[in-house]
Amino acid sequence: MKWNSFVAALGLAAPTSALLRFGCSKLTIQRLDPLVNPGQNPSTHLHQIIGGNSFNVTMDPKTHDLAKLSTCTTCQFTEDFSNYWTAVLYFKAKNGTLKRVPQRAQQGMEGTQGGMVVYYMTDALFDTAQKSKVTAFKPGFRMLIGDVNYRSRDEARDFRQLTFICMQNEGTRAPETVEFPKTPCPAGIMANHRFPTCWDGVNLDSPNHRDHVAYPESGTFESGGPCPSTHPVRLPQILLETVWDTKAFNNKADWPADGKQPFVWSSGDGTGYSSHADYVFGWKDDALQKAMDGHTYVTAPMLKTQTIAQQNKCSVPDMVGEDFDSWLPKLPGDIMVN
Ligand SMILES: *[C@@H]1O[C@H](CO)[C@@H](O)[C@H](O)[C@H]1NC(C)=O
Ligand SMILES: *[C@@H]1O[C@H](CO)[C@@H](O)[C@H](O)[C@H]1NC(C)=O
Repeated sequence: MKWNSFVAALGLAAPTSALLRFGCSKLTIQRLDPLVNPGQNPSTHLHQIIGGNSFNVTMDPKTHDLAKLSTCTTCQFTEDFSNYWTAVLYFKAKNGTLKRVPQRAQQGMEGTQGGMVVYYMTDALFDTAQKSKVTAFKPGFRMLIGDVNYRSRDEARDFRQLTFICMQNEGTRAPETVEFPKTPCPAGIMANHRFPTCWDGVNLDSPNHRDHVAYPESGTFESGGPCPSTHPVRLPQILLETVWDTKAFNNKADWPADGKQPFVWSSGDGTGYSSHADYVFGWKDDALQKAMDGHTYVTAPMLKTQTIAQQNKCSVPDMVGEDFDSWLPKLPGDIMVN
């Protein structure tokens, strides 16, 4: 079903809080990671990055004010200068060479170059009431979800809701799997990254970029589970949807002879269990808090917007200078697939 008709079918309750849904085009694709490998150029593996153009090799939380240093953003809401990034998907052909999988825009956002769809919500995605109060992130806040080294289902259980959807058509939203789909996906592979929703209320970051946030203590974010006493502050849930356009790689004759699926994360993972995403908060002033208190579902009249053409114009210079787009003998960074 199409998004708009899905929402219409649910009927409209008057929200007391808000759900934001907006597109962000590609800011850049580079082997940089200012959260995990600050100052390191190049970082270990390739990322696709969206958001404000103050993105850089180093983004010291004490001095780097994203909203002040950015002059544009690739997001529809122009007060969001945050940066969001994930690994990049590659296709590994039978002959062992690798090709970057392009990203495509979702329905209603046609023309957006690459990028993702971003959500901030106070309750479950399809709950049009959006009634819970949340505390917006503070300047300097950042976090990471997922573990780049994970290769098994057991390890991946540490995280909730880092999933893939094998899209049969534009409206496919189920089933979600924690490993890469095993069959060709005609409309692409959607990667979903949902961040934790409970904060310790004190630390803007932590050494592993994860310990200052937590999942609800019981139940889930969707069922309204309470935050643990160690992390009592309820945050908006951020969900990132990236659609990897696998169309050019869906011919099973090109897939490995051993029957395995052919897609790998740029971090070298052919299982999908290492799916991860990074967030560096950068909304201007209190625009996010106001929006989350905004009695609105999907649309957000209180926020300033720009056109897709303007979104597409925002970028940052290539600071690494490597080829990641040809058929490559190895992943950027000479990372082994394992
Ligand atoms: C990145 O940081 C360097 C060094 O501080 C600076 O010269 C450069 O202008 C920055 N790039 C962007 C896109 O802000
Ligand atoms: C490997 O296979 C791909 C896909 O069939 C093809 O495009 C590429 O040219 C091949 N590379 C080599 C080195 O044979």
